[in-house]
Amino acid sequence: MSCTIIVGGFFGDEGKGKVVAHVAYHDQPTIISRGGVGPNAGHTVKMGDKEYGVRMVPSGFAYPDARLCIGTGVLVDPRVFMHEVELLGVRDRIFIDYRCSIIEEDHIRRDKSSEHLAKTIGSTGSGCGPANADRVLRVARQARELPELADYLMDVPAELNGALDRGENVLLEGTQGFGISLYYGTYPFVTSKDTSASQIASDNGVGPTRIDDVIVVFKAYPTRVGEGPFSTEMSRETSDRLGIREFGTVTHRQRRIGEWDGTMARYSAMVNGCTMAAITGIDRVDPDCFGVTEYSKLSKKAKDFLAQAESDIGSPVSLISTGPDVSQIIDLRDEL
Ligand code: IMP
Ligand code: MG
Repeated sequence: MSCTIIVGGFFGDEGKGKVVAHVAYHDQPTIISRGGVGPNAGHTVKMGDKEYGVRMVPSGFAYPDARLCIGTGVLVDPRVFMHEVELLGVRDRIFIDYRCSIIEEDHIRRDKSSEHLAKTIGSTGSGCGPANADRVLRVARQARELPELADYLMDVPAELNGALDRGENVLLEGTQGFGISLYYGTYPFVTSKDTSASQIASDNGVGPTRIDDVIVVFKAYPTRVGEGPFSTEMSRETSDRLGIREFGTVTHRQRRIGEWDGTMARYSAMVNGCTMAAITGIDRVDPDCFGVTEYSKLSKKAKDFLAQAESDIGSPVSLISTGPDVSQIIDLRDEL
């Protein structure tokens, strides 16, 4: 039995969705449950010639044999949820904790019309900040109050802890990234909740003593969307020269690109209680490594980068992503 948490180590969009999908195929969890803020998150999962961008459904949907849950702490936008459930055909295996807070149209309006949130902070406009504020003020509605969600309601902590009691594997996926944590990030340029591993455990009602592994996902060239400090940010000219261009899954805004930040990686690994790291985008460090699936076939340039990253992080780099497809990954966990 094992319970693994997967979180983002930089500013989000590290490729967690792809890492979750790979780990799911490898570990065969019976439940994949998400924590994190809500539909401000966008995960992209590429499988074969299909690419999916999801905001409410756990990115683990790509693995067909697990039940999919949305943890108690996650904000649910019923419109986005229903749309994705139909699109992905996961109706029979997806569940929402009955206590989840609901995002109303008015939360979205308040998010988009607030000068502070929309302009200064650069929020995603998905209503998450105002909805979390309403939860704290104890006026938010919960999932159990909406007839259209009745078929999906579950006591998610009870299911997860029950699965662990039976010796099954469970995967808890985080969203966003460490740098936009309400507590540990670059406040006030952050999201409306903590995003570290402890929060993801809490979002799902799984106690800290039951967590076996925390996989922190870093990208070789970190990115940031929205406003706020980004100490290793490079000029658009430099990132264009490197051939790196990214756009947000939710807002389609162009992402800011930076160099590897070893200091941030180390601090993030510490607060997250990292037991192993995943690094994505090694094909950007050396394009010759695109799609490589064996460590021995990586170039010296890539191996040198990974050695530096591992020493910065202070935990083994066990998963190395070499391209966007789920199959393009080196998994060293069995060799540890
Ligand atoms: P909010 O979470 O929509 O309030 O946005 C606050 C800040 O967090 C903005 O800079 C967003 O771009 C950023 N943010 C929120 N969710 C994500 C995410 O999933 N990935 C990357 N940035 C995010
Ligand atoms: Mg994203």
